[in-house]
Amino acid sequence: MTSDTKTMILPITEIEQAAFCQTDDDLQAKTLEEEFQAGVRWQKIPIEYLKCSPEDLESRISDSKEALGENVLILGHHYQREEVIKFADLRGDSFKLSQFAATQNKAEHIVFCGVHFMAETADVLSGPHQKVILPNITAGCSMADMASTDDVLDCWEELESVLSSVGGVIPITYMNSTAAIKALCGRNGGIVCTSSNASASFEWAFKRGQRVLFLPDQHLGRNTAHKLGIGNDEMLVWNPYKYLGGHTEQALRDAKVILWQGHCSVHTRFSTSQIEDARAKHPDVTVVVHPECTRDVVELADLNGSTEYIIKVVKEAPSDTTWAVGTEISLVNRLSKENPDKTIFCLDSVVCPCSTMYRIHPAYLAWVLDGLKEGVVVNQVKVDDKTSIEAQVALDRMLSLAG
Ligand code: 13P
Ligand code: SF4
Repeated sequence: MTSDTKTMILPITEIEQAAFCQTDDDLQAKTLEEEFQAGVRWQKIPIEYLKCSPEDLESRISDSKEALGENVLILGHHYQREEVIKFADLRGDSFKLSQFAATQNKAEHIVFCGVHFMAETADVLSGPHQKVILPNITAGCSMADMASTDDVLDCWEELESVLSSVGGVIPITYMNSTAAIKALCGRNGGIVCTSSNASASFEWAFKRGQRVLFLPDQHLGRNTAHKLGIGNDEMLVWNPYKYLGGHTEQALRDAKVILWQGHCSVHTRFSTSQIEDARAKHPDVTVVVHPECTRDVVELADLNGSTEYIIKVVKEAPSDTTWAVGTEISLVNRLSKENPDKTIFCLDSVVCPCSTMYRIHPAYLAWVLDGLKEGVVVNQVKVDDKTSIEAQVALDRMLSLAG
């Protein structure tokens, strides 16, 4: 039931975002105990793992991985730290990882080194004999936390009451959302998208209706709508803390795209002045950013696309080219190491990892693998059957789009 008295609660994941920002270039491997000194609220873990040195954790994880063999598949998102991603059997952006989860059905256990919404998706798409494990159960996503399932259900109810007599609205949820929101899309003729297929998902939706509700990232939604020639005057932003999102019934009827008021705390740090500085210092620079950046940044950049796209363009570029990259620092540092023939740097000189991706410290990976060796499943992520069936409808629609 909706009201106009909801109070805004800032997710803890958003508050913690600045906890690991620093100005030096590299993020040094530390013990989990040292990481905890930043005052973060991560999952508790047996004490023996807290003090384990980075070297001990590395050999512990290697041994467990070898002992577990094909029984365990480790999936890793590109934003994972170096000490973790090195153990991933397969790595990718969120689209590629969901494809892996849908097709890799050999391993009984999928250890997902990424964030909660990705692990939920893997559970929905993997086989019934497979269990998905998130090494640190508190590894969420501040953007996903900006769209609570209850707020989205309220929004949907209000939109239906206003729009069902005038053609309705097609819901598109970004992968970065709860399984329950994906399920809402599944049962209401909607679809899931990632940053690599957002345009295709909009085209899919506009073949089926005249309006789109896009959530939770207003920036990806706005950038995608612009690509398809939809102007700012045809979009509005839904404020979940206000009745009808803060709009009149007429404004909602007139809108082509309704954007949820959510954002990524990592990508909204990038600014046009950083692009101008990069161009002043390196006149030959190519600027590539993730489409979760704000509209002005995406407009001023030379290129934009998903993490997989960013890796591809940089990798395929000629030697001696210079790249300023607007995405998460673990990926930018890796790109720089893996492409020594190019100059690659982060657009933002303050180094800020995604604080929730960063929650997958190697101590957690060691802990869950040790558990599996003893037949104990820690941190299984399980979506209930009804939600899973409905979410899969929306995910299958996405997987059937061209990538
Ligand atoms: P990708 O879809 O590019 O992997 O991005 C996921 C994400 O969370 C970016 O912030
Ligand atoms: Fe979420 Fe942003 Fe981190 Fe991606 S980078 S997982 S959108 S907080």
